[in-house]
Amino acid sequence: MKGSIITDIGKSFKGIDVISIRNFSRQQLEFLFETTDKIRQDPKDFRDSLRGKKLTMLFLEPSTRTASSFEESGRYLGCTIDGVREPNSSSLAKGETLNDTIKMFEGYGSNCFVIRHEKSGSARFASEVASVPVVNAGDGNREHPTQAMLDLYTIGQKLGKLDGISVGVLGDLRYSRTAPSLSYALTNYDAKLFFIAPDSLQIQPRVERELNKKGTKFQKLGDPKEVMDKLDVLYVTRIQKERFPDPTEYEKVRGSYVVDEKLVSMGKKGLGVMHPLPRVDELKPEVDKLENAWYFEQAKNGTVVRAALLYLILGDKNS
Ligand code: NCD
Repeated sequence: MKGSIITDIGKSFKGIDVISIRNFSRQQLEFLFETTDKIRQDPKDFRDSLRGKKLTMLFLEPSTRTASSFEESGRYLGCTIDGVREPNSSSLAKGETLNDTIKMFEGYGSNCFVIRHEKSGSARFASEVASVPVVNAGDGNREHPTQAMLDLYTIGQKLGKLDGISVGVLGDLRYSRTAPSLSYALTNYDAKLFFIAPDSLQIQPRVERELNKKGTKFQKLGDPKEVMDKLDVLYVTRIQKERFPDPTEYEKVRGSYVVDEKLVSMGKKGLGVMHPLPRVDELKPEVDKLENAWYFEQAKNGTVVRAALLYLILGDKNS
């Protein structure tokens, strides 16, 4: 059957919520990436495979890439799309609860919610309220599981492996949600992590605990120059200004790290520079022209990886 993927591991995706990347095994991630490759190779086989399904986008915090790539992939697969992209223009601005918003869109026939919210734990809450699958598109500084999926896919595509690699995660690791999700995802592989950040923005203790539990090796440091020559990937994050409870704390760390051509030249020849984007001033545009700049390709991979995920969760042929 065209576009059909029938295996037990495929079935394990059917109808699931995607709240944390920690819920995905290495085998499941690999299956997701194989499906992604299949869609890349023969996109037409998958076109309209989700016809009749409705995807509800609840984007209650700004988004460019995540929202657009979910919409793009959903549309390609044949879904209709509704929801809220601009919270200030919806009844949420009048005080309507997330619970009521979800119930209402379910009444309109939603088959899946994709939710982004400033509060950590909101995706989990949504999944408890909704009777259809919920995909976390970023909840506060907690997690961004689909970003980690496309990050891993990009690393695998570029390096041809995920085992035996060293990944530097640089920047605001305290308020970032992509850094925790990527770190958790890498615990499925034999990867070494270097958390590079000013002390006040170092990796969250809950991430350290998880890595220790999984036996993933990591080191914390302040200056990327110390490890540049060891890294296969340098994953840069912006300072998440909007999550700082105190603006004076933001001023203290503003501009404290910059990735420029000079820093990249200290790395291995094949070093990949990644960034979930948007960038502000921590990643200089001069890096864009280097072979090391993977971030636009990384963003581009978002559409196809998310298409594969939606296909596996909602596809009837996948059961
Ligand atoms: C990230 C996010 O929303 O956490 N963006 C994204 O989804 N690509 C990173 C960020 O906002 O800095």
